[in-house]
Amino acid sequence: MQYEQQIEALLAQMTLAEKIGQMRQLHGTGENQKNLVREGNLGSVLNVIDAEAHEIQRLAVEESRLGIPLLIGRDVIHGFRTIFPIPLGQAASFNPDLVREAARVAAREASGAGINWTFAPMIDIARDPRWGRIAESCGEDAYLASLMGVAMVEGFQGDDLTAPEAIAACAKHYVGYGASENGRDYNTAWIPEVLLRDVYLAPFQAAAEAGAATFMSAFNDLNGVPTSGNEFTLRQILKGEWAYAGMVVSDWASITEMIAHGYAADARDAALKGVTAGVDMEMASTSYAEYLAELVESGAISHDLIDDAVRRVLRIKFRLGLFNQPYANAAAAETLVAPDHLALARQIAKESCVLLSNKETLPLKQQTKVAIVGPLADHAADQLGCWVFDGKPEDSQTPLQAIRGLLGNEQVVFAQGLAEARSTDDGLFDEAVAAAQTADVVLAFLGEDAGLSGEAHSRAFIDLPGAQLALVDALVATGKPVVAVVMAGRSLVLGELQDKVQAILYAWHPGTMAGPAIADLLFGLDNPSGRLPISFPRTVGQVPVYYNRKNTGRPPSEDAPSIPTGTPLDPSGFTSSYLDVDHRPLFAFGYGLSYTTFDYRNIRLSSPKIGFDQTLSISATITNTGNYAGAEVVQLYIRDLVGSMTRPIKELKGFQRIALEPGQSQEVTFELRSADLSFHNNAMQKIAEPGEFHVWVAPNSLGGLQASFELGA
Ligand code: BGC
Repeated sequence: MQYEQQIEALLAQMTLAEKIGQMRQLHGTGENQKNLVREGNLGSVLNVIDAEAHEIQRLAVEESRLGIPLLIGRDVIHGFRTIFPIPLGQAASFNPDLVREAARVAAREASGAGINWTFAPMIDIARDPRWGRIAESCGEDAYLASLMGVAMVEGFQGDDLTAPEAIAACAKHYVGYGASENGRDYNTAWIPEVLLRDVYLAPFQAAAEAGAATFMSAFNDLNGVPTSGNEFTLRQILKGEWAYAGMVVSDWASITEMIAHGYAADARDAALKGVTAGVDMEMASTSYAEYLAELVESGAISHDLIDDAVRRVLRIKFRLGLFNQPYANAAAAETLVAPDHLALARQIAKESCVLLSNKETLPLKQQTKVAIVGPLADHAADQLGCWVFDGKPEDSQTPLQAIRGLLGNEQVVFAQGLAEARSTDDGLFDEAVAAAQTADVVLAFLGEDAGLSGEAHSRAFIDLPGAQLALVDALVATGKPVVAVVMAGRSLVLGELQDKVQAILYAWHPGTMAGPAIADLLFGLDNPSGRLPISFPRTVGQVPVYYNRKNTGRPPSEDAPSIPTGTPLDPSGFTSSYLDVDHRPLFAFGYGLSYTTFDYRNIRLSSPKIGFDQTLSISATITNTGNYAGAEVVQLYIRDLVGSMTRPIKELKGFQRIALEPGQSQEVTFELRSADLSFHNNAMQKIAEPGEFHVWVAPNSLGGLQASFELGA
């Protein structure tokens, strides 16, 4: 705690008004904000960059009484100017090292614009693809999201937050925001405490342990108490059990939204509840500014509560070194979209693409004559995805541009077919069909425009929008092989598309370098290696569908076929399944194909039994049995067969990305500690229980090699 004395010295000089000022964050830099900054009554601004950021920071440092610098926050979610894949796509890379590097580049570029704080990573567990913000998440699994969230925190913050290119991270949205009922944004979440602790809190605890400078409380009501006034999650768990010394900022006006929630009577009550619960800084709304002084003076809250919040705000400012260097990192401003940033964006975009199906069509030969169609083929803005404030479409390299560059103009014919992703007008179909007829292969760039995901952008239908399937029908009718490349901010329902086309490459929204990354994969210059961080439903009626579900007392048969419509009797045997669709997802968590094949053999355990506080080694031999070099994501799953609480049928506990040449084998070894087997019981103790476990070394959450071991004294 190297800054604690400085914090105390500063605190001792501050008036109550100045303290409350540190607990406020406003958007923009209008006259009101400037005056507040001069008076020492504003601790932070958001959404300002460059000259505006410099000027408001200068006012704080040079013209306010105590010269306390501002936190300048912005949503740098998946890149600043160089845009990386949406976080859900980054999670599909199963490559935390690349994700860390991408966050580092984002921080570097942002630091050049005067930003010292990003509102990322978003580590809400998301199991409902209707929810538009699933795009910003790391998917459905707590283990994967924890690793990815930590990688992002490490990338943004580096080892030393005072370094010029480091910025403060913000773990958000604390907590349970992704469990909104029916996928409608801002909706209520009900999460039993064991699930909250094992799944929804786990990535946040990991982020806190990794030193995330700040947390953001969420919009949602959790189990009847809005998360921005939730003493249990903020005061008891975060600041109590986890002893978190960082700062909590509210989400945008989430303090005063407690009035609409029906949890606060008015803004004064909202301020009282927010600060009591442990929200140290109020974003955008002004209840703290209006009521905290009076609440202190009337004795409704203590001076100590205010001091605790202000210490936390000041601590971040000291950790960032803002008292020594409050301004933009000028050198970084020169690095925007630098070649090495673009190379990284291309690599992570490649590793995030998931090959979902391939009927011996991909990779294509470079001599192929291709027809490029579809609304996402040449859309420089949509390929960037949601939450892009500073990325510029003019930096984007689109698939059309990249494939033309690779094959030459004469081998490429382009006809968009649909003016935009949501268009239902088939007026351009004829042109697309004519283009298809001149080509060997049709490359159809389909999916969602950027505006179909992100905050407040939920969907109840998660099919390909507009007339895209009809366009595919028209293209398929030409008899030419059709390859679909899908860009989207969520998992989509793809069964019909899969039946129609020869291959599907799922690219999420890949960012600035979408074009070169996709071209590399389609033409075999590289081999797809992304794996799904969320399960893909067969129909929205299966949602939520996720791999680490419970077994139930009547588990569905693993080979139960879907039942033809009109079947008079129920052949499913009264098991937990559907009459009209297979209970399993169309594509499972962890799934993804390659141009080569991998053989899993010879699972071995270091021992058939481990004791508490011991470690088990699990090994298997993976061989590239195909004709292409490729990377495999080898996954480790467990199942605890009997517990004092029922346990999921699979739990991801590790993964390794390995690269293998054709014919090459590698032994992969995982270490499983007994602590990795623990979970919360109903008394909220985190324990591993003795008994039998299954363990899989697997290519995805469905298959793999299985063995058993016992945990016991
Ligand atoms: C979002 C946050 C974001 C904040 C600031 C809110 O509407 O929920 O994720 O960080 O705005 O832009």
